[in-house]
Amino acid sequence: MRLSGEIFPPGDKSITHRALMLNAISYGKAKISHALLSEDIYATISLLKALGVKITMDNDSLTVIGNGFEGLMPPDKLLDCRNSGTTARLFLGLLSGLNFSSALIGDSSLSKRPMGRVVKYLNQLNGIITLTDNNYLPAKIFPSEIKANEINLDVKSAQVKSAILLAALKNPDISIIHEISPTRNHTELMLKYLGADITVNDLSIFVSGKKKLSASDIIVPGDISSAAFFIVGCLIVPDSEIVIRNCGINPTRTGILQVLDQIGADYEIKNRRTVCNEAVGDIYLRYTKNLRPFRLDKELIPLLIDEIPVLALLATQIEETSIIRDALELRVKESDRIKSVKETLTSLGADIEELSDGFVITGKSKLRPNTVNTYNDHRISMMLKIAKLLCNNLNIINPDSDKISYPDFENDLKKLLK
Ligand code: S3P
Repeated sequence: MRLSGEIFPPGDKSITHRALMLNAISYGKAKISHALLSEDIYATISLLKALGVKITMDNDSLTVIGNGFEGLMPPDKLLDCRNSGTTARLFLGLLSGLNFSSALIGDSSLSKRPMGRVVKYLNQLNGIITLTDNNYLPAKIFPSEIKANEINLDVKSAQVKSAILLAALKNPDISIIHEISPTRNHTELMLKYLGADITVNDLSIFVSGKKKLSASDIIVPGDISSAAFFIVGCLIVPDSEIVIRNCGINPTRTGILQVLDQIGADYEIKNRRTVCNEAVGDIYLRYTKNLRPFRLDKELIPLLIDEIPVLALLATQIEETSIIRDALELRVKESDRIKSVKETLTSLGADIEELSDGFVITGKSKLRPNTVNTYNDHRISMMLKIAKLLCNNLNIINPDSDKISYPDFENDLKKLLK
């Protein structure tokens, strides 16, 4: 058994959320092609529809008709973000500074994830929001007038940054946002694409609502965070060789390629191109013997944050010790991913030490089957399905959460298995 053949990863989740939201606050009609159609995206679609935005679906394309912020209508129900952190954080910004009130709720996992990190900055822009226990959903957003301001972020989070951008667009004066280190910049690139008044200078973003956004068709690249499962699968199953076509390779997302360089994996990127301001390419990858251990820390972490569970699995199959540090953010994802990765991989026989902000993983371990829980976390579920390639009788409890970001994951994996 090996992985072989080509794969087209599903549309990028972060970009699909933004294509929907940003076109909804633009003027005109836009078609979003190769959109991701998954549970998290359905949450964003249902919120926009509750705000009166017209969205239609045809195969994997979505059509949105935007009428600017003033086209948004007061919702007649609570806005349910379900499991989607991106929906919750970005809508806190999108809904701040409108002339009506709204309320956001989420499922039990999302209701435990911190929202105060967004709201404290939205307050600096004059947004009026109340959170449960000052940090959690349900959130109530009240009418206000956004003022421009200068914001110094203290968290490396594209969701927080994007929420601030969405609020700042309501004031024609310039707001300035300073990041600590780069995080995914899809919002900035797409705002530019839609004609916004935005400039980025190193870690500082200058944005205003002076220019109206024009709805524009968007072709969504494949999601490298979804492709990551096959990348690791290919590197842990001998004789594998795959091509990942049409994959997003925006440098703020390709930390995993830096890991491939560190470990000495045999890969190449061909057919590099730019599509709707985003870098795209085809990744050719081969199983490589004698990979070197890796170290992830500091600025690299935000560039591969969602790939860490599957990279931890990769580390279990590399001789010697790999280290992942500065990844405290993992504790507030869909599950506490430091705990869920440590517990699942340890129960399969891996040698993993848990740190407060990461792991020390010593390979190479022979994984043995066991019964493991996904913690209802899509990235843990898919990581375990890749681990299963090495231990056939693995029994995975709650295996359905792939639908959050990659409903066709099992089918695509089957297609690659020869
Ligand atoms: C996302 C940003 C990341 C990432 C999440 C999607 C986004 O979260 O983990 O899956 O679309 O902006 P943070 O920015 O909070 O780290």
